Amino acid sequence: MIKAEKNFTMIIFGASGSLAKLKIFPSLYELISEGRMPEEFKIVGYSRTEKTDEEFRAEFAESVKHEVENVDDKVLDELVSNVFYHTGQYDNHDDYVGLCERLKEIEETEDRVRVGYFSVPPSVFDDIIKGVGETLNKEDVELRLIFEKPFGENYVTSKELKRKIFDQFERNQVFLLDHYLGKEAVFNLLSLRYANSIFSYLIQGKNIANIQITAMESVDIEGRAGYFDNVGILKDMVQSHLFQILAFLTMYIPRSFESKLVHQSKVHLLENMYFEGSPEDIVRGQYEGYRGHDGVSEDSNTETFVALKMGIDSTNWHGVPIYLRTGKSLKQKWTSVVIEFAPHQYQKKLGEGRTNKLVMILQPDESVSFHLLTKQGGRELQFDEEVTSKPIYCKGDCTSEHTRLLLECIAGDHMLFLDFPEIYEAWKIIDPIGEMFENDKVPLDMYEVGGVGPKSADELIERDGFKWHNFF
Ligand SMILES: NC(=O)c1ccc[n+]([C@@H]2O[C@H](COP(=O)([O-])OP(=O)(O)OC[C@H]3O[C@@H](n4cnc5c(N)ncnc54)[C@H](OP(=O)(O)O)[C@@H]3O)[C@@H](O)[C@H]2O)c1
Repeated sequence: MIKAEKNFTMIIFGASGSLAKLKIFPSLYELISEGRMPEEFKIVGYSRTEKTDEEFRAEFAESVKHEVENVDDKVLDELVSNVFYHTGQYDNHDDYVGLCERLKEIEETEDRVRVGYFSVPPSVFDDIIKGVGETLNKEDVELRLIFEKPFGENYVTSKELKRKIFDQFERNQVFLLDHYLGKEAVFNLLSLRYANSIFSYLIQGKNIANIQITAMESVDIEGRAGYFDNVGILKDMVQSHLFQILAFLTMYIPRSFESKLVHQSKVHLLENMYFEGSPEDIVRGQYEGYRGHDGVSEDSNTETFVALKMGIDSTNWHGVPIYLRTGKSLKQKWTSVVIEFAPHQYQKKLGEGRTNKLVMILQPDESVSFHLLTKQGGRELQFDEEVTSKPIYCKGDCTSEHTRLLLECIAGDHMLFLDFPEIYEAWKIIDPIGEMFENDKVPLDMYEVGGVGPKSADELIERDGFKWHNFF
């Protein structure tokens, strides 16, 4: 079982916010309830909102109870007794000095790692980088930092972010978190190919007619208008999660899962990924009623849905169309990868248009299935489509996404985190599309809540003679 082997202190900047309550506090509960905590740990919330330790502990416990089923009160009490709060401004040096003093009071040993978690909007990153760089980073205790996406708003700002971070901190201190990488099912896209030659033989461009990646959400923007209306789903989902899924599926298999080798392979893939640049290859949608949300302007053109056609310019993947689509307020929560195989030459002669498919469902329930055509009894060559399906629920040492990533950070392993070169490559693809959106080069198509997105998304793929395979 993966355990936090080192004693640690986690300092959560922005501890009064939504990510902390929804993900970080429940993950810390998961660590303790599953016996993954080290001998000694401390959790310190830091934000501007005035609070006492007791008030913060009560909030912390309430969030855990809200997010986790069947909470064990005794375990929660033990966790909460290690939780503290420090009120501070993000741009006040003295508040960080006060934080360091507080840490010395509460930490029982110096033999530990401190993890600073940036659970704040990116607009606050600069101040905290400076504050932490001038204080916590000068202490003798080893310091690591977790940053949550988005990493910049485009190529240029992501480079600036990197410069600011690395002006103060060493590369091995920095952990860039995309929570999709904490999903066992996402990493499985690579490890299935690594461990099963059947997959590595099949998943090669020469065998494949097209690849489809879908990430649908049934929820709307859930009160996050301030963030979402400035960003849109292209940057929120495609630049990060969908490109990561595509990379794990198509990158060359590194000889080991050492962090450096995995990143090298991923960067190589992303360097070769491209979007042709034609407005015809992209669909921009917005769900009906989006403009009525509090905080969204009446004439907002922010996209809540995109579908696009991509390619990979490599010997292996040349000529294989890759279709990505993602949106909010759709029929159901669903993430899948469908690989549609090219038909056999004789299959067409027989007038059999159906194709083999390999379907990997990542959410809500993980599974892998093959869609095979099997001959029915008798003299006629008639085929039935059979689905051989296997659930691939995580077995063994399974954790939720943030829990796994916290454990990897405490262990100092970067393999499941992003690296700036791959972030740059992703922005290089996204930036020109973002510009097309800003200049209204791509029409904004409205779509019904509860459906599968605008009709134009169907037309995008049908133009190439394919259709979306909706297995939900
Ligand atoms: N929420 C999610 O599900 C989610 C998912 C993926 C990534 N993320 C990323 O995780 C980070 C945190 O997200 P979040 O949703 O928790 O953010 P949030 O709730 O908007 O903000 C977290 C805390 O930061 C402080 N803060 C907010 N706006 C500020 C401002 N303009 N100036 C100074 N301080 C401010 C507030 O604390 P005080 O006022 O008390 O200081 C707030 O409670 C962001 O980078 C976000 O993009 C979030």
